[in-house]
Amino acid sequence: EAPSWTETTDVCVIGSGVAGLTCALNLRQAGFHVTVVTKVRIDDGSTRWAQGGVAAVLDPLDSPEAHARDTQIAGVGLCDPAAVDVTVTEGPQRIADLIHLGTEFDRHPDGSLQLTREGGHRARRIVHAGGDATGAEIQRALHSAVLRDPWIRIIEHAMVLDLLTDARGHAAGVSLHVLGEGVEYGVGGVEARAVVLATGGLGQIFQSTTNPSVSIGDGVALALRAGATVTDLEFVQFHPTSLFVAGGDLRLNGTPGPGGGSAAGGTELGSEVISGDRQPLISEALRGEGAHLRDFSGDRFMVGVHELAELAPRDVVAKAITSRMIAEGKPHMWLDARHLGRDMLEHRFPTITASCRAIGVDPVTDLIPVAPAAHYSSGGVRTDLHGRTSVPGLYAAGEAACTGLHGANRLASNSLLEALVFAQRIADGLAESKPSPGVPELPEGEGSVCSTTSRAPLQEAMTAGAGVLRSEASLEATAASLTALGDNVSGRPRPATWEATNLLTVAAAVTAAAHRRRETRGSHWREDHPEAADAWLGHLCLSISSDGELETTW
Ligand code: SIN
Repeated sequence: EAPSWTETTDVCVIGSGVAGLTCALNLRQAGFHVTVVTKVRIDDGSTRWAQGGVAAVLDPLDSPEAHARDTQIAGVGLCDPAAVDVTVTEGPQRIADLIHLGTEFDRHPDGSLQLTREGGHRARRIVHAGGDATGAEIQRALHSAVLRDPWIRIIEHAMVLDLLTDARGHAAGVSLHVLGEGVEYGVGGVEARAVVLATGGLGQIFQSTTNPSVSIGDGVALALRAGATVTDLEFVQFHPTSLFVAGGDLRLNGTPGPGGGSAAGGTELGSEVISGDRQPLISEALRGEGAHLRDFSGDRFMVGVHELAELAPRDVVAKAITSRMIAEGKPHMWLDARHLGRDMLEHRFPTITASCRAIGVDPVTDLIPVAPAAHYSSGGVRTDLHGRTSVPGLYAAGEAACTGLHGANRLASNSLLEALVFAQRIADGLAESKPSPGVPELPEGEGSVCSTTSRAPLQEAMTAGAGVLRSEASLEATAASLTALGDNVSGRPRPATWEATNLLTVAAAVTAAAHRRRETRGSHWREDHPEAADAWLGHLCLSISSDGELETTW
């Protein structure tokens, strides 16, 4: 849709979690004016829900080589060594930057940083804050730094629609639909020399997810429409331990989030567009501090499955839990943290303890019911080591991006780290290239949009056929359901229908990638191809052809 008003900035950042806000602050350091556009409110993304922490080499007994090795083992042969290298070597400085900005990580009485472990890490290298409220503290520090800078303009309650390009095909801004106050309502445009996608993940394409309601893959959908290459989308990571809520409904609506603010959903745009909610996370750090997984007979079933038992990489743990649930015909397994004691649970894990108690489970005395839930997209918009996508002037950072760090399965707590490292690298690259402004060409005609009623059946189809366990038949059934939902076109374009359209675009892309990869690797589990195969040691790229068809190339 053609914008009816425009405003101009140097760099337009879409999204306001750790990737977007860090990028905005770093771009200001480089002298750019920045506009941050965010779909609901500034703190409503995934970052504030992150529990475990940020992985970085901070212990003298640890090393970048050891962090790189653990990252690559988790990524099962598909990590890009250069992306791993820059992340593990630049990570410690990015933690120092966060501390400089005012982030208060947990410390020992002698002032040194507390470091914990999570799945796949062979060393204690994860900094955390507020016990298990790390993301909330980082978001708080970034948010207040952004508010202190008058040259960072924030547009909240704004759904970004499409990339605007100039005659050279260079990104020149975005069109957006604003529902909130502060700028004119309706469809407008932000003209910019460069655009950064920091829109977060896509967990809401599944029925059960730890992601907040805004996480529907908007950046991936926009990038595909803009002709950018998207890669590794089949690698959706299922967190092994989300809190299972009894009563058939896996969701716990309205659980208070750490760091204040509203729970996901229920906001102006959020309630109109997305009525779903998120599963409370039971951080891997709880297992890092010694909690055990048990089946319904009380057996610690991870012992014997992997040398690291409960601290195996999360794809291994998620598969073991799912297999045990299927074998025992149960909707969840158990996490036993009772031996950690009241003091540790209430002080080191206050968020988890509160979430459990909200459903009548006291982790001090009770076993915690847990089940896997969609958690993180290891794939995304393909970028190079400076966050550049295949469209000139379009950048991507954080979960929306695929830098090559995660391969087939992200190592725990490498996500906030990646966002910090690549947000800095994007700012450095833009400072060096100093892009000139272009004149955006107005979009031609109006595309069709989906009906909002497609959301629930889409999530059902994705969970049934393209979730933790996949096969050729299940993926084909899901693809057929998605095609049928695509016929459900709504006459009236508005943010809710644009969001429904993005959900469908992203769900179809994930399903196509999962269908094409005929092996089991990392978080992609094919029942009909249960082994990893060397022939698949490569990346699937997705793009939308000039006639609107989704294409996968190897
Ligand atoms: C967790 O705290 O278990 C999640 C950490 C992550 O996703 O990296």
